[in-house]
Amino acid sequence: MDQIQIFDTTLRDGEQSPGVNLSTEEKIEIALQLERLGIDIIEAGFAAASPGDLYSIQQIANRLKEVSVCSLSRCVKSDIDKAWEALREAAYPRLHIFISTSPIHREYKLRMSKEQILESVDEMVRYGKSRFPIVQFSAEDAGRTEIDYLCAVVDQAIRAGADVINIPDTVGYLYPDEYAEIFIQLQKRVPNIDRVILSAHCHDDLGMAVVNSLAAVRTGVRQIEGTINGIGERAGNAALEEVIMAIKTREDFFQKKTSIRHSEIARTSRLVSKFTGMFVQKNKAIVGDNAFAHESGIHQDGMLKNKETYEIMTPETVGMDESLLVLGKHSGRHAFKKRLEELGYPQSDEQINVLFTRFKELADRKKEITEEDIIALVEEKIGEG
Ligand code: KIV
Ligand code: ZN
Repeated sequence: MDQIQIFDTTLRDGEQSPGVNLSTEEKIEIALQLERLGIDIIEAGFAAASPGDLYSIQQIANRLKEVSVCSLSRCVKSDIDKAWEALREAAYPRLHIFISTSPIHREYKLRMSKEQILESVDEMVRYGKSRFPIVQFSAEDAGRTEIDYLCAVVDQAIRAGADVINIPDTVGYLYPDEYAEIFIQLQKRVPNIDRVILSAHCHDDLGMAVVNSLAAVRTGVRQIEGTINGIGERAGNAALEEVIMAIKTREDFFQKKTSIRHSEIARTSRLVSKFTGMFVQKNKAIVGDNAFAHESGIHQDGMLKNKETYEIMTPETVGMDESLLVLGKHSGRHAFKKRLEELGYPQSDEQINVLFTRFKELADRKKEITEEDIIALVEEKIGEG
């Protein structure tokens, strides 16, 4: 089965989340956890962005011996030099070089012609290759670039020696079929495309980053980029824990594997949330507090009979606490009885009938029923004799 490489950019694109600023120590701790998680490539920062970024990349590169460490770089010689300064001691250094290709970026941001961009790609990829063993090239805003021109840019990057070609949907604009079509066209039209690894990099402005990444996997893309908890510019990047678990849970569909240690997912998510101050919403897929919690009586009854009735993966697989049957106004007698037993108050069916009626009255008044509430109900009943 083909292997999908996971490229984590939590420390670069993720740190670009408004309000996030990680110290070098925090970055090192996250990087070490990403290594434990089994990430293949860690984009540790943008060396030319600041001396602090360069130093953090250097420190991470010196510590991580099993994983490839990468720096972002514009198509500018001095950026590439800074990236090399940061990564020369890395076990597996990678340069990630990018330039915008879409009409709006060409005209307003770069003020460069199509030809000038092609020349820059040629010159800078060659320069990058003279230093780095692996050069990844990204066509920024590829999602809004004319397909003929995108093919020409990718062709140029491959001729100049790029090893990995990344196609970012920088502004999270595309629908899955459209994003997939770009990779289909590149594979049809660009000579020697099979000599490079194709990579997907999606943003979440329309909430489609994960599904777009998965659509790319279906076309033969071999690297997916994203961040833990989906943090990143604006609405963020593809949430890696979701991409990874979709590939694992639907292995029958994707026929692909990753080298991720899935049981490290929850720990990684919590660490990133703690250091970035970006809280994970309760109903977030895979790592949210409610991802394995069940409230309705029908669901709870199903779960007590066979967990697969309402769970497509176990919480243990991703390192989350065991499934929770939350007691609330939608809960059923079965779950209520089980919770009483767990709390050390086994009850006869007759007693359960009385207690359950009182529990439902309470649940109508209170949003959340705590263990203390349940114990108080039973103790009150015992007190009544
Ligand atoms: O979203 C994007 O286009 C990027 C590139 C710099 C790869 O993050
Ligand atoms: Zn990005």
